[in-house]
Amino acid sequence: MKENPVEQPCLRRRHLLAAAGVVGVGVPLVAACGPDEQKHAPPKAGTELTTTDEVPVGGGVIVGNVVVTQPTSGEFKAFSAVCTHAHCLVTKVDHAIECPCHGSKFALVDGSVEQGPAGDPLPQVDIVVDAKTISTA
Ligand code: FES
Repeated sequence: MKENPVEQPCLRRRHLLAAAGVVGVGVPLVAACGPDEQKHAPPKAGTELTTTDEVPVGGGVIVGNVVVTQPTSGEFKAFSAVCTHAHCLVTKVDHAIECPCHGSKFALVDGSVEQGPAGDPLPQVDIVVDAKTISTA
């Protein structure tokens, strides 16, 4: 399984405001949230994500801010790796896509919520499979 190159979950505004209250430097910290959120944007069309050999059947791999799954043999799906609960990056794909922050789990086949607190599915990312290469569409 591939390691996630984006290892830091996004710091949300409320976390930054709490930190600012502790250290008394509100404006620079709040301004720092924008670039973090920009890192969570999906890659542009045509970006190579992985190969079919690297995606286990009944599992998946996390490539940056995209998770690529293979729910059944030969069926590939991709979703945003940004949790819909509080925007952490998911970090584990086994029988489900798992978020480490509060324990949400999402289905490999359609990104739907299997376990909250997330209430919304992971957005699907369109992909193309050309020979063994999986890229964004
Ligand atoms: S951010 Fe994923 S469960 Fe809360």
